[in-house]
Amino acid sequence: MSEQLPAEPAVVIKTVDNGPYQVKGPIRLVDHDNNVYDLGPGRTKLLCRCGMSETKPFCDGAHVRNGFVAAERSS
Ligand code: FES
Repeated sequence: MSEQLPAEPAVVIKTVDNGPYQVKGPIRLVDHDNNVYDLGPGRTKLLCRCGMSETKPFCDGAHVRNGFVAAERSS
């Protein structure tokens, strides 16, 4: 059962087919070294989903070069 969301949620996370997570702010992302990345309203960042990026947690396009296939689908 899903909850009612506002017509325009503040944060939107979209899975890109065979690619990264597209995150639309406003968010604050804190990485493994405690670096803080503030993303303002309506701004987007791509977060690595394949594990092959040299710039984690961000996507650097390695998923394309390495033929990443995200087979999983939610039901
Ligand atoms: S999803 Fe793009 S480099 Fe991992």
